[in-house]
Amino acid sequence: MLNNKYKVAIVGGAGHIGLPLSCFISSHGNDVIIIDTDTDKLKKLSENIIPFKDDGLQEYLKIANKNNIKFSDNIDEINNYELIIITLGTSSSKGDLNKFQTLMSQVLENINKNSRIILRSTITNETIEFTLNNKNFKEKNIKLAYCPERIAEGSSLKELKELPQIIGTQDGIEDKYFLLFFKSLGIKTLTTDFKNAVFLKLFTNSYRYSQFTLINEFSNIAEENQLDFEKIIDLATLDYPRLKNIPSKGFVGGPCLIKDTETFRIEYSEDSQFLNSLRKINTTFMTNILNKCNEIFIDKKLIQLGLTFKPNSDDLRDSLSLELYFNLKKMGFDIYPIDENVSQDSVEFELYDFEDVSKLTNNVLISTFHTSFKNLDLSGKKVFTVGNK
Ligand SMILES: NC(=O)c1ccc[n+]([C@@H]2O[C@H](COP(=O)([O-])OP(=O)(O)OC[C@H]3O[C@@H](n4cnc5c(N)ncnc54)[C@H](O)[C@@H]3O)[C@@H](O)[C@H]2O)c1
Repeated sequence: MLNNKYKVAIVGGAGHIGLPLSCFISSHGNDVIIIDTDTDKLKKLSENIIPFKDDGLQEYLKIANKNNIKFSDNIDEINNYELIIITLGTSSSKGDLNKFQTLMSQVLENINKNSRIILRSTITNETIEFTLNNKNFKEKNIKLAYCPERIAEGSSLKELKELPQIIGTQDGIEDKYFLLFFKSLGIKTLTTDFKNAVFLKLFTNSYRYSQFTLINEFSNIAEENQLDFEKIIDLATLDYPRLKNIPSKGFVGGPCLIKDTETFRIEYSEDSQFLNSLRKINTTFMTNILNKCNEIFIDKKLIQLGLTFKPNSDDLRDSLSLELYFNLKKMGFDIYPIDENVSQDSVEFELYDFEDVSKLTNNVLISTFHTSFKNLDLSGKKVFTVGNK
C-alpha cells in the first residue's frame, strides 16, 4: 500500500464480474491493472468501449481510464502488485476446474512474497485446498481470502456499494488487511471461514434457482390439468400479503444459477432427489412452451421478442430464450427474432426490427420481457408470453 492507496491486479478483469469491480476499485484512487487473455477486449477497454451492458459502467470506465487504469495480457505483471483478485469464469466441469487451478499455479509462481489473494470467482472447497497446499503459497507467506461476488448482473456498480462483502478466511477470524481494503471502498464486511463462505455462495444461487423452478413446477402442473395458471396467480396474489413475494414463472437461465446449483449438488449432496429434479422441471417447462406454440399459433411464422437470459440484459450465456429459438426452428417455425440488446455479430442468424416484420405475421412470442417491449403496438396480435423474469 502506498499513501493509503492499494496496488491491485485483477486477473480475468475484463469479464462481467472483473470489469465493474476493477473500475470501482480504480474510482477510489487505487493503482489498478486488469490482466486478461482477451486482448481484443483490453484494446477496446483502453478506448472506453464497454464489452457488455452494466448500469453506470461506461462512466466508471471513463473515470478509470482518466485514473490511468492499466491493461495487460501478461500474468507476470502481478509481481508489481500487492493484492491479486481472481475473477475468472468457473463452472462445475472438470475442465474449468483444471484451467482455474493452472492459473492459480501461475499466479503463485509470479506473486511477490507476503502478497494477498482474493478469490472472487465462484469456487469449491477443492480450489481453496489446492491453493493452500501450493508450495509457493506456503513459502511466500501469501494470505488468502474467498470473497464471493453476489451481485445481480447488470446492477454491479450499485450493488458493489450496497451489499455486505462476505470475507472467508482460513480460521474465520477477521484479517485486518482484507477488512481495511473493503472498508476503504466503503463496503460493509462479514467474516466467516472458507467452508461457510463456499457453502453460502453456492446455497444462495441454488436457493434462488429452486424458488424460480418451484413456480415453474406449479405452472407445469396447471398445464397438465388444462388450467390457466396466469389467471390463477393473478387471482391468488391480488391483495393477498402471504403470496406477495412469489416469483413469476419463466425461464431460469444465465451464467450463474444453473451452474452454481449443479456445483452445490456435486459438492454437498450428489444424490439429493430435490436438487436432481430441478433441471427436469425446467425441461418440462420448456416442452410445455413448445407444445403451446404449436397449439396457439395458427401457422408456423412468428415474431420472437427477447433472446437474452433475463430482461434488459445483453447476456446470451445459457439463455433459455435462445434455446427456445433453436428448438422452435427444429420444429419448423419460421422466426423473426428481435432483441435490441443483442448485436448482430453475437448471433449466427438474422435479427429484425419490429416495424419491419410486424406486418408479416400476427403471431408474437415474448420469451424475454425487456421493458422496452411495453412500448410496442401489439394490438390485433396473438401474443404468448413465456414469463416476466
Ligand atoms: N456473471 C455474474 O453475474 C456473476 C455473479 C456472481 C458470480 N459470478 C462468478 O464470477 C466468475 C466470473 O464470471 P464472469 O461472468 O465475470 O465471467 P466472464 O467470462 O465474463 O469473465 C471471465 C474473464 O476471464 C478472462 N480469462 C479467461 N482465462 C483467463 C486467464 N487464463 N487469464 C486471465 N484472464 C482470463 C476472460 O477473457 C474473461 O474476460 C464466475 O466464477 C462466476 O460464477 C458471476
